[in-house]
Amino acid sequence: MFPEIRLRRLRRTEGLRQMVGQPLPGPEKFIWPVFLREGQGVDEPISAMTGQSRMSADVLLQRLEPVVKSGVGGVLLFGLTDPSKKDADGSEAFSEKGAVQQAIPLIKKAFPQLTVFTDVCLCAYTDHGHCGPLHSAGEVDNDFTLSLLQKVALSHAAAGADGVAPSAMMDGQVRAIREALDDAQFIDTLLMSYSTKFVSSLYGPFREAEQSAPGKGDRQGYQLPCNNSRQALRESKLDESEGADILMVKPALMYLDILYQLRQATDLPVAAYNVSGEYSMFVAQAERGWGDLRSMVRESTAAMQRAGADIFISYWANHYDLFFS
Ligand code: PBG
Ligand code: ZN
Repeated sequence: MFPEIRLRRLRRTEGLRQMVGQPLPGPEKFIWPVFLREGQGVDEPISAMTGQSRMSADVLLQRLEPVVKSGVGGVLLFGLTDPSKKDADGSEAFSEKGAVQQAIPLIKKAFPQLTVFTDVCLCAYTDHGHCGPLHSAGEVDNDFTLSLLQKVALSHAAAGADGVAPSAMMDGQVRAIREALDDAQFIDTLLMSYSTKFVSSLYGPFREAEQSAPGKGDRQGYQLPCNNSRQALRESKLDESEGADILMVKPALMYLDILYQLRQATDLPVAAYNVSGEYSMFVAQAERGWGDLRSMVRESTAAMQRAGADIFISYWANHYDLFFS
């Protein structure tokens, strides 16, 4: 009790605060999500995400140089295709000539130590923008989608990806993909599941980047509702039982309670996806002079870490040295 106990003694100097506190996660814990276009010399800034752009593989290799040098552990590749190549099934997603499939060997060759994950979904490749083909009633056809996600994952594994990350929120996708990988002898390819992925108003900037907004309807029939934490945990536990190597909570900042509960409920590594809207709201706030960007990035990263994240999928990763050192 006061006056014998004075907690301010432990906070008096920067040295003490650092000594008794937890350090921010190192760069090796970060995965940088990037948007890949076909072709060469492509560098299109994304207006809703200052500091991020859609790039062709050659430009990405240049941009990765300082990122890898800063110690960042991985990348998560999102592919784009020409609108004229989109179809009802999103079949361009498993083309050998796709932006992602072509880029993987180049990245692995230039940066062998960098861990390369790929997003496995169809929404950037379907002409209707949903995460799988629709059946006649207009809903996503779960089981047909599984067969296509298998092809996408196999095409990424064949190109040399270290890990595939299915994000379509179809039932059974982890099991289907694990089986397909194992049958094709890709036994070492990691499976990082977007296991607990909510419907969110924070994906807007990403959908601009990926040109993947659904034309009609929304994703409420497959992504999780924000008002059901039991179901959110069930999704991740099910993916663990289907063979996922890494689980994920997405978005991260509005779902720290879920992240914390999942951390208690599993021994798998848990990734926090600090999504596009979380990135852009800080950028916008800072641009208006309403807050210090560095402080916002550090405070929010500490929050995800306290909640139990092992891995940080974050658009701040290409600025690690700016924000975290
Ligand atoms: C699509 C996908 C989305 C994100 C990752 N994969 C958006 C969506 O579900 O519409 C969001 C990432 C972000 O906002 O940073 N399967
Ligand atoms: Zn999708």
